[in-house]
Amino acid sequence: MGRANKVVLAYSGGVDTSVCIPYLKNEWGVQEVITLAADLGQGDELEPIREKALTSGASQSLIADATQSFVKDYAFPAIQANALYENRYPLSTALARPLIAKLLVEAAAEYGADAVAHGCTGKGNDQVRFDVSIAALNPNLKVLAPAREWGMSREETIAYGERYGIASPVKKKSPYSIDRNLLGRSIEAGPLEDPYTEPLEEVYLMTQAIADTPNEPEYVEIGFHRGLPVSLNGQALSPIELITQLNTIAGNHGVGRIDMVENRLVGIKSREIYEAPALLVLIAAHRDLESLTLTADVTHYKRGIEETYSQMIYNGLWYSPLKGALDAFVLQTQERVTGTVRVKFLKGNATIVGRQSASSLYTPDLATYGADDKFDHKAAEGFIYVWGLPTRVWSQLGK
Ligand code: ARG
Repeated sequence: MGRANKVVLAYSGGVDTSVCIPYLKNEWGVQEVITLAADLGQGDELEPIREKALTSGASQSLIADATQSFVKDYAFPAIQANALYENRYPLSTALARPLIAKLLVEAAAEYGADAVAHGCTGKGNDQVRFDVSIAALNPNLKVLAPAREWGMSREETIAYGERYGIASPVKKKSPYSIDRNLLGRSIEAGPLEDPYTEPLEEVYLMTQAIADTPNEPEYVEIGFHRGLPVSLNGQALSPIELITQLNTIAGNHGVGRIDMVENRLVGIKSREIYEAPALLVLIAAHRDLESLTLTADVTHYKRGIEETYSQMIYNGLWYSPLKGALDAFVLQTQERVTGTVRVKFLKGNATIVGRQSASSLYTPDLATYGADDKFDHKAAEGFIYVWGLPTRVWSQLGK
């Protein structure tokens, strides 16, 4: 008896997930491996990947067209929550994991598989996100993670693959580990492992070096409806189109790079380079529109929710009850977050230079220092008396 009969394997076409196929069959006694590659707008050609799975021994090779759901159901709620892990990383990789987990669980049901599998190692966040998300969606499904157990080095993995007809990677040279989808790229390993070493320009693909960006500013008006981006420069766009176009504009101005040392859930500090041009701009613009349309107390309270929400995405708890409750809170706050934010792109900066909304709480009559000021200045005295009373009492006692 093997560990499972029929397995649906999350497949990327890379060495590790390819080697998982013969490994599952030969070492773990799996009868049948069905691969599933998710199209998340990573820009890879999927037909060669589909075929590679079959030549590597898969009985069936599935491609899931998931980009639209990725943006609408995963990225957009994260934008409404201004989700930035450790205040910086917009979770472009992390957000894909619960979606891939959902695709695996659905495929397992459809094809009658008794387990699903992924190629994550035991050192990263992604294994946690997969395992917990899968368990949340189907607690009875087995999860197999060969790369967490096989203990092979990179060279040994390649050699193992070669024995089963899996060609070793053509360009062995890249020292980086890269994850990519429509939202962004994540780059780690190689020379980046020294956190004091500046990344070489070669790690970046979506963003220009500042030296190569235009000298003239470019202005973009981002339209939001209930906290969701819906248009650029007045033109209504589908979620995928909007992200794609904004990635190009922001990337062209060198906007969207992050270089950080982050705290993984498994306790390791890790140096990461990210590119997420559109996502970073959208979160900044969205937060700015909230500053115009949310009351002070909701704005301040939401900050705490956002922090928790970001950690939950990072830590693999997308499908957890608390996350669902926080979603309800966030959604409720977005009712009037409709309007336009004006962004100026220049030399690596995306500066918000204007915002407007029919639901604006900004009241010129109250804010102005001019003659038409409607604020009752005398009322301030009584307010301050009451506001400062506890402090005054405390201070008196100390005298
Ligand atoms: N550290 C990031 C995260 O946990 C990205 C990890 C993705 N993998 C990679 N090969 N860069 O979301």
